[in-house]
Amino acid sequence: MFESAEKIIAGNWKMNLLPGEGLLLVNELVNNLEVQKTKVILAPPFPYLSELSKKLKSKPGFYLAAQNCHHKSSGAFTGEVAPQMLKAMGVEYVILGHSEQRSLFGESDEWIAKKIQNALIAGLNVIYCCGETLDDRDAGKQFDRVRSQVQTAFNKFPSDRLDQVVIAYEPVWAIGTGKTASPEQANEMHAHIRDLLAAQFGKNAAQTVPILYGGSVKSGNAPDLLSCPDIDGALVGGASLVADEFIEIVRSAEKL
Ligand code: PGA
Repeated sequence: MFESAEKIIAGNWKMNLLPGEGLLLVNELVNNLEVQKTKVILAPPFPYLSELSKKLKSKPGFYLAAQNCHHKSSGAFTGEVAPQMLKAMGVEYVILGHSEQRSLFGESDEWIAKKIQNALIAGLNVIYCCGETLDDRDAGKQFDRVRSQVQTAFNKFPSDRLDQVVIAYEPVWAIGTGKTASPEQANEMHAHIRDLLAAQFGKNAAQTVPILYGGSVKSGNAPDLLSCPDIDGALVGGASLVADEFIEIVRSAEKL
């Protein structure tokens, strides 16, 4: 179990919301949520980061994340964004290895590992996503898949930077499908990830890494998922676009 009493609820907007809609959503969250023991992380599309950074700066417990970054700090990489740029804009976290980047754009574990390295150098915290496909699970290979993802991503990882890491377990079959892993399935995989971290970094260090669950988290299933001992928070996609839903999820974390 992650030792802190704090839970993390991250909202991944993906490629959704026009600027006015995004602003409306953030205003609703900021005006209706006071958090004591929950970290709220919002991951809007790149063009909104600058404005949200100004808005969230004075709101206790709220943090800003980008949805991706490149593994170089500058250069001829048209269409890409360096983590150093994000950091300079007030962004604190970056989501890396999301299954949509893996499946739609062919991101490999090795490629993601490079991005993680550069994000750390830039001073960003990384939300590293991993998770098996339905085929993996049907074949009983879910633990092998996640082990290979985590081991490749953290292969050359400096142990003194572990405080910059959050892991999100997101079974691909549960993302955007309305199918959620049961609390038992999620907790079991979180414990497996914790064991992998312990084997590489030691038991004590492994306890310091928050492990979030992602995949069709909603206000209705959040309380059961969040009360599992190895689930330290949630990475929320669709439900993070609806103010009332996201507020409810954050409140259920606050109540624990
Ligand atoms: P979902 O997305 O909550 O819409 O399933 C989660 C994610 O992809 O991070």
